[in-house]
Amino acid sequence: MRTGIIGTGRIGSTLARILVAAGHEVVLANARGPQSLGPLVAELGPAASAAHPAEAADQAELPVLMVPYASVRGLLPAAAVQDKVLVDATNAFGAGGKPADLGGRASSELVAEWYPGARVVKSLNTMHFETLAVAGGPFRTKSEGSAAEGERLALFTAGDDEKAKEIVAGIIADLGFAPVDTGPLHSGGILQQPGGPLFNRPLTEAQALAWISH
Ligand SMILES: NC(=O)c1ccc[n+]([C@@H]2O[C@H](COP(=O)([O-])OP(=O)(O)OC[C@H]3O[C@@H](n4cnc5c(N)ncnc54)[C@H](OP(=O)(O)O)[C@@H]3O)[C@@H](O)[C@H]2O)c1
Repeated sequence: MRTGIIGTGRIGSTLARILVAAGHEVVLANARGPQSLGPLVAELGPAASAAHPAEAADQAELPVLMVPYASVRGLLPAAAVQDKVLVDATNAFGAGGKPADLGGRASSELVAEWYPGARVVKSLNTMHFETLAVAGGPFRTKSEGSAAEGERLALFTAGDDEKAKEIVAGIIADLGFAPVDTGPLHSGGILQQPGGPLFNRPLTEAQALAWISH
């Protein structure tokens, strides 16, 4: 499955590296254009390519938003994400780095309104990029000296389309993390976004499930 990474800064370039290491293809896009992505594409090798955001979303089976939240609205043509699983990994911050006041809405609910044809899943937004870079990796059994299944760190999915969440969960598992479903886009999104209990808090699968059941 080819993942389109829209936004290749700290988190986007990290996701690109771990996806390619896990055997996935990526198409990358940023604000400055594909030429500026030459060094990253060269580093990643033949599994990576670069395009403009609309082209990357069009070419990808799984587009992932990794741009500032304020850039999301109007960024992609509706046709490029029509009927596709669209991963929203953005976080809405307001003044002073505080969670933005969205009137009780989950930020990804608004993304789903801006892209009504897309199957929006809130995911990959909670973990700091430096953790994402190193905490996954190939799953091994305990006897092989690496993280056992229950000890893997959790990455979350929220959304109203169960099949879409399963697709994202498969990618999370490929990356060596534990996929944990937080529920619908509204309630799960609020758990995952800034100000929620799951944001920027590295939790194992078991710890995450305990938080969600609170
Ligand atoms: N940093 C983290 O650990 C982390 C973790 C999870 C989620 N997030 C979320 O992911 C998003 C990106 O965070 P970041 O820390 O990676 O930011 P960043 O390092 O500043 O990177 C932002 C990226 O978005 C691109 N971009 C900005 N406006 C754009 C537009 N209009 N069209 C296309 N591309 C655009 C930038 O392009 P150029 O490279 O051309 O400037 C850059 O590649 C934010 O919503 C953040 O909350 C961050």
